[in-house]
Amino acid sequence: MHIRLCPFILLAIATFALSVPAMAAELAELGEALFFDTNLSANRTQACATCHNPATAFTDSRDGGVGGAVSLGDDGVSLGDRNTPSITYATFIPDFGRDNAGEIAGGAFYDGRAANLVDQAGQPFTNPIEMALPDNAAVVDRVRENPAHVEAMKQHFGDSIFDDTDAAFRAISESIVAFEQTSQFAPFDSKYDRFLRGEYELTVKEEIGRKLFYSQIFNCHVCHQIDHRELIEGVPFTTHRYHNIGVPVNREVRQKNGLGESHRDLGLLENPAIDDPSQAGKFKVPTLRNVAVTGPYMHNGVFKKLETVILFYNKFILTNRESQTNPETGQPWGKPEVSETVEVDLLEDGQPVSSLQLSALVAFLETLTDKRYEPLLDR
Ligand code: HEC
Ligand code: HEC
Repeated sequence: MHIRLCPFILLAIATFALSVPAMAAELAELGEALFFDTNLSANRTQACATCHNPATAFTDSRDGGVGGAVSLGDDGVSLGDRNTPSITYATFIPDFGRDNAGEIAGGAFYDGRAANLVDQAGQPFTNPIEMALPDNAAVVDRVRENPAHVEAMKQHFGDSIFDDTDAAFRAISESIVAFEQTSQFAPFDSKYDRFLRGEYELTVKEEIGRKLFYSQIFNCHVCHQIDHRELIEGVPFTTHRYHNIGVPVNREVRQKNGLGESHRDLGLLENPAIDDPSQAGKFKVPTLRNVAVTGPYMHNGVFKKLETVILFYNKFILTNRESQTNPETGQPWGKPEVSETVEVDLLEDGQPVSSLQLSALVAFLETLTDKRYEPLLDR
């Protein structure tokens, strides 16, 4: 039997189905305009895109006098204390909370202090060392200066949206997140994704690297894989959990940003929702997607090269002098932000990476680069 639907109902369904994505696309357009608008900072020099530059996988491509380890603020002098992460694939970060195994996971920033991306998008505007506007009302005022923004805001959130500053501010954040949810932030078109779809053949080296990464002779999978099965599409290459792997203090940054050498970044313990001192020094495991083009590395940008990051893990497994030396400085690796809570048990478990394995692992990590950023690999 055929089910007959009244043509008007069909028309209504069709219009609804068409208008939902169309509305989302327009909201993302508003979000994009806001993301690139330098007027939303105190001196009108800085936008989200200044630090999250789409040309470099939404990381900061400026040197800032610290080799890009941390970012300069809108005042042109303030330096942050954390490296600007790539925000590609950030839309897959779950809300801050407990995961299925009961572990603390998710949230935005290295310490998850923004519960989700909407909370996050509201914070840089008024951060004194970033966009530095005095308060949320000032952000809304700056948005109101632009007739195109005003029209788009009213269209999406209603004519009276500017009557309520809090509602308007939230609408601004939501628009930016709609932009962050577009496919340009998560195209899943890296060589690795293409390989999974049968569209690309890995080179011998890339394939050895892939096998090593998944072999579980190294311990990478403990923290950088959610699903321990191979050949799954759409994986983020992080559990989104928090770990203290003993990343050394970036002393150059601490001298230049004025915090001084005695300052400690407590990581997860900086999150107001956490007061358990055993969580100090843990940082959110970042995605490995686009990692080959988003150095410097770690929460403080202390390592310049991908090879150094991987060799760093050997220090927990090998005791010889070479593995206790940072190849970038020729000096010992240096003191962790928080020494007491380094997860030595997890880090000691696994084989050390040999130099041949290192180059294969790097070749594999390079296959996680979105197609648009592949030219950056040749530099
Ligand atoms: C001055 C440079 C700078 C500006 C401007 C800036 N950010 Fe960031 N962004 C950072 C840094 C540094 C971090 C990491 C900070 C931390 O962990 O405490 C970050 C973190 C993030 C994250 C979290 C990523 C993750 O993996 O948890 C998102 C999303 C983000 N920024 C989006 C934005 C948006 C949207 C704007 C504009 C409203 C913006 N940023 C403006 C430097 C910047
Ligand atoms: C105990 C958990 C753990 C294990 C095991 C682990 N990682 Fe990590 N990884 C992390 C955390 C946490 C960070 C971020 C640390 C920070 O910012 O201070 C990180 C950072 C990285 C980064 C830098 C990412 C960036 O954008 O800065 C790379 C690359 C990386 N890991 C690769 C690996 C590889 C390859 C292995 C195996 C040899 C491995 N990791 C094993 C937890 C782990």
